[in-house]
Amino acid sequence: MKNIAPWWIRIPVIFFLVFGTMEYFIDSGAKPAFIEYPITLLFLIVVLFLLIAIEVILKAIENVFFQTLSEDAKKRYLESKNKKWNYGSNLYKKLTKNRPIEEEGEIVLDHNYDGIRELDNTLPPWWVYMFYGTIIFAIVYLLRFHVFNDYDQSLEYEQEVAAAQIAIEEYKKTAKNLVDASTVELLTEASDIKSGQAIFTANCIACHMADGGGGIGPNLTDKNWILGGGIKNVFTTISEGGRDGKGMVAWKQSLKPVEIAQVASYVLVEINGKEPANPKAPEGDIWEEPNTTQE
Ligand code: HEC
Repeated sequence: MKNIAPWWIRIPVIFFLVFGTMEYFIDSGAKPAFIEYPITLLFLIVVLFLLIAIEVILKAIENVFFQTLSEDAKKRYLESKNKKWNYGSNLYKKLTKNRPIEEEGEIVLDHNYDGIRELDNTLPPWWVYMFYGTIIFAIVYLLRFHVFNDYDQSLEYEQEVAAAQIAIEEYKKTAKNLVDASTVELLTEASDIKSGQAIFTANCIACHMADGGGGIGPNLTDKNWILGGGIKNVFTTISEGGRDGKGMVAWKQSLKPVEIAQVASYVLVEINGKEPANPKAPEGDIWEEPNTTQE
């Protein structure tokens, strides 16, 4: 039987080949396939068991054959087997060109300082090839970046920043909770407005009335705002509270940022502009939406 590698190399190599192919062909998004689809994990375990089983069977067959050999043949068989596994140490010898201690007499130089002598070893090939490699690398590098000016560091930097910017935008889409006064946008989706309404009904109507006409708190339906209109100002007011002693608390202590964004949007989309039953007199200044095209 011809073995190109011992079992403890064969099994892992084949196993990881199967594993790698599987991961390559199964599209499982950001997570590895064996986490995304647990069934593949089962498949891998079966593969591993099969590999081990095959090895065990081969070993058993080999054993049976071995028993049928004569003493002489057994000896030869063992010898030939040992030889085959030498390629590792052969490769090592090729890469280092080490001379064994017994042969050092041939390469010792003839100077001798107080008993300290020197061996005329050849450069180890692994080192020499690496050195050649660096020379080739340098030539390619020089041509690519100094002659043909492929790209430079600042371009690389800009590309990475742009890629990161896209990643941040992607992330923000999935992480609504991340909003703050500087990033908040008016939410117009029905589900957000509905959540906003629920929050408003639960927390705000005691002072602002269900229709926003005002009571302890100011009228939210008119164009006048004490603390500034627009989603960013309203978000800040709800989050940080009104002026000291007026009674509007900082809701950031009890509402999540996304909830504040929802209730602020509800106030602006649904409440503002309505005709309340008992409107409170307008307070504050008329708010004009700043020119948004400049953004
Ligand atoms: C305890 C009474 C009270 C409650 C409850 C209350 N507010 Fe107010 N709110 C006020 C008062 C008073 C002001 C005026 C603050 C000022 O003048 O600085 C105000 C101001 C505001 C303003 C700014 C109005 C303007 O003209 O600038 C908004 C927006 C607002 N409240 C929204 C809310 C929302 C949303 C809730 C529920 C999460 C809420 N308020 C709950 C009392 C309340």
